[in-house]
Amino acid sequence: MQRLTGKVAIVTGASSGIGRATAKLFANEGAKVVIAARRAAELETLAAEIASEGGEAAYLAGDVQSEDFAKALVALAVRRFGRLDIAFNNAGTLGEMGPSTAISETGWNAALATNLTSAFLGAKHQIPEMLKQGGGSIIFTSTFVGYSFAFPGTAAYAASKAGLIGLTQALAAEYGAQGVRVNAVLPGAVDTEMYRGMNDTDESQAFVTGLHALKRVARPEELARSVLYLASDDSSFVTGTASLVDGGASITRT
Ligand SMILES: NC(=O)c1ccc[n+]([C@@H]2O[C@H](COP(=O)([O-])OP(=O)(O)OC[C@H]3O[C@@H](n4cnc5c(N)ncnc54)[C@H](OP(=O)(O)O)[C@@H]3O)[C@@H](O)[C@H]2O)c1
Repeated sequence: MQRLTGKVAIVTGASSGIGRATAKLFANEGAKVVIAARRAAELETLAAEIASEGGEAAYLAGDVQSEDFAKALVALAVRRFGRLDIAFNNAGTLGEMGPSTAISETGWNAALATNLTSAFLGAKHQIPEMLKQGGGSIIFTSTFVGYSFAFPGTAAYAASKAGLIGLTQALAAEYGAQGVRVNAVLPGAVDTEMYRGMNDTDESQAFVTGLHALKRVARPEELARSVLYLASDDSSFVTGTASLVDGGASITRT
């Protein structure tokens, strides 16, 4: 049985990694998906892949820092598919890394704009559409970094991603009575462009792998399964959570 039959979902950061895998899984589970990121060619390829597997996808390229883009994604979902049930606000960036005393104000603001303000702007325009049909499910991609694990040199990333947990709780409390659930997923390391960009040596990959109880990093498809749970009615009594999907990184000291 498909778990998202009749549902319409927005997925940001769908041009690669976790977002791409999740958009494909949502479509395989019967959802019509609106996929978003800045790279149009990757979105076009993904939309064609989804269509070739019998699904339906519409894509729009743009920057999640923009409120107009957040509005346009909701408008596209409604225009093409008639409603909005699920929003996976997943696009993110590592931003400017390095010693906190050296991080520029511009770099700090850019990380917050892409990782945190984007999520607020997305939800701001997604929630009114969800309320029209009595509810929906919003999921943000936070991380174990800045929650259960601290890495030096990640101040802007960690702060922006930890901010998503506060946003999750506030929105969940504000709209729970009207049927909108809001949760954050907190991945451990996942084998994506972002992970490979940060861990480009065997030593660094071995170090990160060793942080996890499972002694491996996740495949994007494994994260997609957890996001599917939060998106679907399987999690109908789950809201306001910071949901670790971290291969045991938070409990590992060996
Ligand atoms: N990989 C990990 O180990 C890990 C762990 C914890 C959390 N996360 C989080 O997981 C999420 C997905 O990352 P990933 O690991 O799947 O890496 P990824 O493959 O690099 O994906 C990042 C996605 O975000 C999009 N994006 C970035 N900036 C954007 C912007 N300004 N506007 C629109 N789209 C933007 C990228 O698309 P374009 O470049 O085409 O715009 C891409 O689709 C991120 O929020 C990341 O922080 C990742």
